[in-house]
Amino acid sequence: MSLTSITHTIRKITTASLREQKLRKERITCLTAYDYAAARIVDEAGIEVVLVGDSLAQTMLGYENTLSVTMDEMLHHVKAVRRGVKRALLVADMPFGSYQVDPKEAVLNAARFVKEGAAEVVKIEGGEKRVDLIRRIVNAEIPVAGHIGLTPQSVNLMGGYKVQGKDLSCVEQLRRDADALDRAGVACLFLEGIPREVASIITQEVGTPTIGIGAGPDCDGQVLVFHDILSLTFGPPAKFVRRYGDAATLITSAVQAFRSDVKSHQYPSDEESYHLPKETKANLDTLLANPPTCYSSWQILPKPKEAAQRD
Ligand code: KIV
Repeated sequence: MSLTSITHTIRKITTASLREQKLRKERITCLTAYDYAAARIVDEAGIEVVLVGDSLAQTMLGYENTLSVTMDEMLHHVKAVRRGVKRALLVADMPFGSYQVDPKEAVLNAARFVKEGAAEVVKIEGGEKRVDLIRRIVNAEIPVAGHIGLTPQSVNLMGGYKVQGKDLSCVEQLRRDADALDRAGVACLFLEGIPREVASIITQEVGTPTIGIGAGPDCDGQVLVFHDILSLTFGPPAKFVRRYGDAATLITSAVQAFRSDVKSHQYPSDEESYHLPKETKANLDTLLANPPTCYSSWQILPKPKEAAQRD
């Protein structure tokens, strides 16, 4: 842990310790991370859950939505994040198409995240209809995080990114979904884009910790996207996003300053350059003052190491 980081008692976060946090009513913090540097910063700051979200499709890879990102792309990022995370619980998002088609393939894909990426939990979107699959994956000794409400992988079915659970029948469905996933044994439950009142009821009704995003303050924990809190996204933020820093402005001014220093011959300075050893420099100066007529004359001069041995 670096000196600049906030020090925390190094107690590894586990699925069990998250449940204890819920019982103690101690808020759970979760952020996404997609690479080694971000993972280290987030982990060393004491965030309990690091999610390699499929939102990396947009934030890191520039895709329009999360639907295009593949298992191999996700694994590449999970492995990088794994190298940076020591204390937090590492959750890997199962990408669209990796679990919806064939349950056997879904278990194999979940196992790849654990075996190749050393993730501790895999996250799956969907409610009641995922119960059988979640049981299968849990039976394969892999903890699963549920994710209900506004599930971005269903964007085409939902007809856009819309807050879910606005009428009573939808509220009832969300409660059934949460209850079914809780009974199936999810390690935690992500609640995205639902009214505060509904998230509050679900949080009280389930034993598993709830982690909200756009679901109000009454969840057991909160998650935000790393790039959102740092203003590293290019569109207008969603209502629930709070900006905690402006990395885009910081990076832009650093990049512009570098460009301007190079163009104006201000970078690199002499102090930022490597120099010849004194003796080599003296020999070189002699040679440059009396240029030899053929190249082989350069090789007659002793090399600095030989000169040192001779002396
Ligand atoms: O992919 C993601 O970042 C997510 C969270 C925002 C819940 O699924």
